[in-house]
Amino acid sequence: MKYFNPANLAIIACPGGEVFADEVNSHLRHKYRHSREQTVSEFSKRYNISDEQALLQIDLINKMVTRGPGSQSGTCKNGEQRFKVPVKFTVFANKEIKAEILESIRGKDVYIFQDVENRYPVNFSSGVVSDLSINDHLMTTFVTVDAARQAGAERITLVIPNYPYARQHKAKGREGLTASRIGKIFESLGVNHIITLDIHSRDIINALDKMRLENLHASYQIIQALSKLNGILNDDFVVVSPDTGAVDRNKFYASALKKPLALLYKERDYSKISKDASQTNISQVRLLGNVKDKTVFMADDILGTGGTLIKGMKLLKENGARKIICAISLPLFSGDAISHFDEAYAEGLFYRIIGTNAVYQEEVLNREWYLNVSISKLFAHVISRLHQNQSVSSLLDNAQIINKLLSQTVVPEPQNELPFVQNET
Ligand code: R5P
Repeated sequence: MKYFNPANLAIIACPGGEVFADEVNSHLRHKYRHSREQTVSEFSKRYNISDEQALLQIDLINKMVTRGPGSQSGTCKNGEQRFKVPVKFTVFANKEIKAEILESIRGKDVYIFQDVENRYPVNFSSGVVSDLSINDHLMTTFVTVDAARQAGAERITLVIPNYPYARQHKAKGREGLTASRIGKIFESLGVNHIITLDIHSRDIINALDKMRLENLHASYQIIQALSKLNGILNDDFVVVSPDTGAVDRNKFYASALKKPLALLYKERDYSKISKDASQTNISQVRLLGNVKDKTVFMADDILGTGGTLIKGMKLLKENGARKIICAISLPLFSGDAISHFDEAYAEGLFYRIIGTNAVYQEEVLNREWYLNVSISKLFAHVISRLHQNQSVSSLLDNAQIINKLLSQTVVPEPQNELPFVQNET
């Protein structure tokens, strides 16, 4: 009989990451509740006792097994685990930030959640705080990690679906290597592990010394949403990479969906800064491949100002694309990007944008053109496996479950050969 008691698992939500942490927390509780119910039922059958008696026995065994450091678990009345640890977050008058953990986490396996791109008002213990920048959220992460380390956490995992400063992963001229330096800071503060989503570049992972990084993908959730769009996968369909950096991601989708791949080649003028989708520093975009009369699917990691997608979609339309659907792992919608997409949609430039809940959003959720997919359950599964020191590889490679999903959906064989193939780098 297998029942795992996650008494040492603790969740800390930074104010920016609270919504996501609560969703993941609720999946974890559901998962353990289910496993507990199954064990109780097996136990009562095997020893011919009532469920109540079985529950008492299991609780007793768990108490004996988990006695020792970290065993002061937040168990609720009904025997369920309470993973979330209360933290007092304060912003002082000079905008310094403090985190104080309000209950013992000594010896615990701690998961700290943060969404550095959360632009909405968030709850601090001192009241609701608006206008936090990515740097404020980052500083909040630093002080929280440090507080957890000082409080004796055994292992700290940072759950940060949107890795901060990820686009500063390579240095040209006298620039810094900020993305990997942020990783080094996390490492030096005592973070053992990071769980993130669709990280912008593997350079960041390669620069880390001891800290492990799990890079998750939302491809299953995205293809699931795509397959629900009324018969769309039966259209004459082509996957288009929005730039050369996105080729591997789109090659994955093309091969999973058994569709051809085309490519947009994008150049930026780095003497300028993109202000928004209409004043972007993208100087030119070219298309390699054929999109005439086809439904186009285009996947990118980040939607910032929206310049990349809107410029790309215009070119695809000029080249005869019939319908365009985009998928974004990290939908930042910086500045007034949402209104630029409203305009583009009104002009008939695209059909749908699929985004994940890796970045907290409110305004875009009610748009007809926007489909929100949840990655909370995926993160809960990964956390549960890591906590039990089990392999997560089957959760990192979605190819098998996508195949299974598509076998239940009718997807015709490809019409053309792949026009563009590139080896993995
Ligand atoms: C760039 O290489 C990234 O993958 C995204 O394409 C880019 O960050 C999107 O930014 P924006 O929406 O501002 O064009």
